[in-house]
Amino acid sequence: MIHFHNVSKHYDNQTALRNINFSIEKGEMVFITGPSGSGKTTLLKLIYLAEKPDEGNISIAGWETNQLRESSIPFLRRNIGVVFQDYRLLSNRNIFENVAIALMIRGVNDKEVKTRVLDSLKTVNLRHRVNSYPKALSGGEQQRIVIARAIVAEPTVVLADEPTGNLDPDTAAGIIRLFKEINLKGITIIVATHNRELFRNTCKRVIRLDNGNLVGEEVG
Ligand SMILES: Nc1ncnc2c1ncn2[C@@H]1O[C@H](COP(=O)(O)OP(=O)(O)OP(=O)(O)O)[C@@H](O)[C@H]1O
Ligand SMILES: [Mg+2]
Repeated sequence: MIHFHNVSKHYDNQTALRNINFSIEKGEMVFITGPSGSGKTTLLKLIYLAEKPDEGNISIAGWETNQLRESSIPFLRRNIGVVFQDYRLLSNRNIFENVAIALMIRGVNDKEVKTRVLDSLKTVNLRHRVNSYPKALSGGEQQRIVIARAIVAEPTVVLADEPTGNLDPDTAAGIIRLFKEINLKGITIIVATHNRELFRNTCKRVIRLDNGNLVGEEVG
């Protein structure tokens, strides 16, 4: 469902990704790893169409992204849930509203918004915090709300960039278990992380980047 064919991405004089080839099938859970600056975030941004490749082709769910009109990008993005570091919770909105936003911008009616938000909060085990504000939640709980927001619109793929960055090891392991549960529902999950503890013993595919090159694949 996601195919990279000879993809390169340059920023000014800096090559962020060089001649990358891989495929991810529907329903897979895959880790992207590598040291700082190896190109993990860039790779996720290319899938989310936040950046364009300078060379090569990327196809997502049958769409050739280089043939996509700018106006079609929002429609393709509807299939993608994101857990990115720069998409934080809104501090002046409660948990219900934070999760509901993803549906409201799609014009879903109020009754359905309510059902889906509560469902999604149940998945992350935080149904009881629906009326809380983000600052009343721990870091791990906030991250679970971000995940609830990412899945509420029933995407086919979820992209997560260092989703456990500021969390202690046990809480981080809980987040990865949650992604595995979501993956069991058939949602494709792609997690970028430099932290090898996260994929150790997961039995999931790990794609390794180094200095913009895809240097290997293993099973975590
Ligand atoms: N907007 C940008 N402008 C210029 N250079 C960039 C930009 N974004 C990324 N780069 C460069 O591209 C390379 C890959 O960056 P990227 O953010 O994808 O790495 P990363 O693997 O996510 O690193 P980290 O683990 O630190 O998050 C780096 O050398 C970085 O400096
Ligand atoms: Mg990064």
